[in-house]
Amino acid sequence: MTKSFLAALAGQTVTPPPCWLMRQAGRYLPEYREVRAGVGGFLDLCYTPEKAIEVTLQPLRRYGFDAAILFSDILVVPHALGQSVSFREGEGPVLRPVRTSKDLEALSLDGLAARLAPVLATVRGLSTAIPATTALIGFAGSPWTVATYMVEGHGSKDFVETKRVAYGQPELFSRLIDLLVQATGDYLLAQIDNGAEAIQLFDSWAGVLPEDQFEQWVVAPTRALVRRLKGQRPNVPVIGFPRGAGQLYQAYVDGTGVDAVSLDTGIPLDWAVRTLQPKVTLQGNLDPVMLLAGDGAALDRAVDRILAACAKGPFIFNLGHGILPSTPPEAVARLVERVRAWRG
Ligand code: CP3
Repeated sequence: MTKSFLAALAGQTVTPPPCWLMRQAGRYLPEYREVRAGVGGFLDLCYTPEKAIEVTLQPLRRYGFDAAILFSDILVVPHALGQSVSFREGEGPVLRPVRTSKDLEALSLDGLAARLAPVLATVRGLSTAIPATTALIGFAGSPWTVATYMVEGHGSKDFVETKRVAYGQPELFSRLIDLLVQATGDYLLAQIDNGAEAIQLFDSWAGVLPEDQFEQWVVAPTRALVRRLKGQRPNVPVIGFPRGAGQLYQAYVDGTGVDAVSLDTGIPLDWAVRTLQPKVTLQGNLDPVMLLAGDGAALDRAVDRILAACAKGPFIFNLGHGILPSTPPEAVARLVERVRAWRG
């Protein structure tokens, strides 16, 4: 096996460790902004395979990352289930909220395959377009995080509407989560069959739930999803990213069956190395703001600290969250060089 990213996911210690960055394709790159300006809405970019392939390849050309992540968004799943989804400039995603049984009944798995066909065409195209040593990552949002957008109707800071349904009408919320487990499983299996070599599950809002609700709405649905993927495609590794989960990362690792976890910026690395790395590959966790702070010396120190803590075991270098639009592209080049120069 010559793909260092897959070797690390298989539990090997790779020196220097493989490196890719969450949101590595995006607005911080002028060549992305140029493609983006030539399509109508953001979803049009996700559903136009030649453009989505192009923007996926852009950061690989610049930086030679060890993995490419399919260019799409976690909100194509609610869109494919029939929910109205749009992205407004400067405002983020806007959805028609799902809060009642009637709203839920309007959603359906029937149109899923047809709606997501262009994304699968992107995966297929990428599997032959990327360099031979680069791995192709497919992804989806986790049921809980996608449900927060579906119920709130937009991004949120307090998740009051979602929690109100989850805590107050758990039967209704279960039906939404079950639908998402089914749809996301179908979608990820199709990504694998079209060439995705690993899967990442983005659970950006995993950290807002109390322990028992975390078990019910994050761990259990993720376990069901991972079980289905592993049952059908046992050789494809799954990375989970329960952002903000703190000590519950441990329950997540023990309860879901993922092969790797992506650490957010706040996780203490000595704890993660001791508690999690014996069981799973670690990925992370540079603060994305380090890429835009100062002259580069602080960035170098931050990169070195993470490598020194994590790279003696199975590890993939990444950020603790997505790259920010104001990131200077040269800072990313500096980061990649620093990781590549690591000799342990
Ligand atoms: O990592 C990559 O390069 C792959 C592409 C990718 C995007 N979104 C592209 C995107 C991935 C993996 C995502 C995941 C995603 N999308 C998450 C989980 C990770 C996280 O950041 O927490 C979430 C919560 C979303 C939902 C979403 N999509 C929001 C809240 C927004 C608006 C915020 C923003 O940055 O504008 C998006 C839009 C989005 N998704 C953009 C990109 C490049 C920016 C839109 C544009 O270019 O106009």
